[in-house]
Amino acid sequence: MQVKASVPGKIILSGEHAVVYGKPAIAAAVDKRLTVTLQSRNDGKKIIQTDADDTKLIDAAIKVVKNGLEMQKKGFDLNVKSEIPIGAGMGSSAAVAVAVAATLVVASTGQSKLDLEKINKLAYEVERIQHGTPSGIDNFTVTFGGFLWYRKELEFLKTFWKLQFKVTKDMQHFYLINTGKPVETTGEMVKMVKQKLETADLTLEVLHDIEGVTKKVLLGIRGEDEKLLLSSMSENERLLEKLGVVGEFAKNIVQEIEQSGGVAKISGAGGVKDRSGILLVYHKDKNTVAKIAKKHNLDWFPAKLGAEGVRIESIEA
Ligand code: MEV
Repeated sequence: MQVKASVPGKIILSGEHAVVYGKPAIAAAVDKRLTVTLQSRNDGKKIIQTDADDTKLIDAAIKVVKNGLEMQKKGFDLNVKSEIPIGAGMGSSAAVAVAVAATLVVASTGQSKLDLEKINKLAYEVERIQHGTPSGIDNFTVTFGGFLWYRKELEFLKTFWKLQFKVTKDMQHFYLINTGKPVETTGEMVKMVKQKLETADLTLEVLHDIEGVTKKVLLGIRGEDEKLLLSSMSENERLLEKLGVVGEFAKNIVQEIEQSGGVAKISGAGGVKDRSGILLVYHKDKNTVAKIAKKHNLDWFPAKLGAEGVRIESIEA
């Protein structure tokens, strides 16, 4: 049996890091997908091929997916291909976990209809092994897709609203610039922020301020208020800089984008030692975004927000 599943990447419009402390965040699935193809074998071997550079994560995902046991006895080839930049804040690890869970569950049960709740829970377990104390926003976003208002109230109470409105045509000026894979992992960045908050380097007020900005970002998009969106995205970037999760290289790119009439913020955990992962950019002039990215030799692409979540692409007997 062969099962192929694909999972979108994600970006966070506002609220990363604060979401670990019970504050809300807005995330969207984006139209860059990671695809896992699982082909059953009869010799019990498990052979993994991946361009996502993360066999340890795939092993963890396979272990967590207990429902895949039947398939695990038989063995399988597992092939991972990713359009999502790896380790850059676009949810690649959650996408791997979700896709591995989806293919193993479908191949083991023979049922093609995905139990999204179950797959999401399995992926969260993998994220915990990988990152320590994730909020769950990455696995929720790539599993369910669309546009999410997410909040982790308590460990057993994670809530999300699928936002029913879309970014209107007039406001589809979102781009992503990849400043490069951070040296630090998401887990390390989350830990760093925690230490700062505990040692009073930072007060909890910054989390409160991020919550306010997140609400303004949402009002900006919903009300088609571009001015509000621009000012709140840039306020969000300043607060992330205050949290200490944005490196100098990324700060310079943000500045160039701002000087040319747009706004930009890191999206995800960030990084400070060197690069900071993906930048979410809002700019009316695509050519300017291209020029700035090219000048620094960075990948960039338009971001279509609100892509479909995990889906089964094909099942062959
Ligand atoms: C990572 O995409 C977002 C963080 O807020 C961590 C998390 O929510 O688990 C930095």
